[in-house]
Amino acid sequence: MAHDTFLDPDALLRDALARVSATNDPETLRAIDREFLQKGGVVASMLASIPTLPPEQRKSTGQRANQIKAALEAALLEKKRALEDAALDGGATGAPFDATLPAARTERGSLHPITQVTRELEDLFTSMGYVVLDGPEVERDWYNFEALNIPKDHPARDSQDTFYVAGRGDLVLRTHTSPCQVRAMETMKPPFRAIVPGKVFRQETTDASHEHTFHQMEGLVVGKDISVGHLIGAMKTLLRGVFGREIEVRLRPGFFPFVEPGFELDAKCPFCKSGCSVCKQSTWIELLPCGMVHPNVLRSGGIDPEEWSGFAFGLGLSRLVMLRAKIDDVRHLLSGDLRFLEQF
Ligand code: FA5
Repeated sequence: MAHDTFLDPDALLRDALARVSATNDPETLRAIDREFLQKGGVVASMLASIPTLPPEQRKSTGQRANQIKAALEAALLEKKRALEDAALDGGATGAPFDATLPAARTERGSLHPITQVTRELEDLFTSMGYVVLDGPEVERDWYNFEALNIPKDHPARDSQDTFYVAGRGDLVLRTHTSPCQVRAMETMKPPFRAIVPGKVFRQETTDASHEHTFHQMEGLVVGKDISVGHLIGAMKTLLRGVFGREIEVRLRPGFFPFVEPGFELDAKCPFCKSGCSVCKQSTWIELLPCGMVHPNVLRSGGIDPEEWSGFAFGLGLSRLVMLRAKIDDVRHLLSGDLRFLEQF
């Protein structure tokens, strides 16, 4: 709205006050405030014009501008309070404010079961002197395979169907957390103990116990005279920590090019007595492959195998969560289905 401010300040104030009194809309009040009182508004322009006026008019113009400002501010404040009071008494809806009504329900989220178990394991292992490490999900072929004693033509590559990054033959989505073994050796001096929880990816057909994206937790201990006895002790502590009791397990030989000897630790299937889709009718669930670190892997990480030895394990974290929470299909875990997640 254009105003001939300097011709008739009285008319200007009358007009503004009439508009304040005529409205019951808070947004209109804010617009009047902007138009007259805020930076660039009518009153501010009046004040800014003072230096350009003949000297005898300057004082009276300044006074008048300040009177308009004070009167309009008071009217706006009074109207705002009146509107707030009316709202408490029911406002336009006629329903008065009731301080005894229960508050609107707020939805509370919870930590994902994988995050919960990861944090528990991190607490358990850090209490035993392990450090928690992280590694890249898009990994170099060298760390994912070659440094782990798996050369390009090695048949072990077939057992972990790999997603390659398009146009970059040297980059893969890591198929396991084991590449962090060599990364850890490169950054830490032995002796050391580390765990690496993380997401891994495999191009495989999914079923109740196989996802294309799942979680593992790598463990690595390097020191003097580390033996299979240390390895088994660590595995037992891990399982007791997670399940709070002894669970039935079996240890059998397992082949992984980066450990020698290698083992598979399986847990008894909690879902059946004689075989089901989760354990693939075997009554055992592959959970915790492990073994003594192969000398070639120590060499890849710049560690002398004559002087140091170590053990490593690759816990199937997603399967562990399934076992503990009795989830009968791994695909629920990353489904994002709130009906599933709300149970945790
Ligand atoms: C490995 O990935 C080795 N890196 C483990 C290892 C580490 C061995 C250190 C020795 C020393 P494997 O492919 O078996 O091994 O996978 C490890 C675990 O991940 C399995 O026991 C299983 O619990 C889990 N796992 C494997 N594939 C899937 C899948 N598709 N979905 C969910 N969990 C899986």
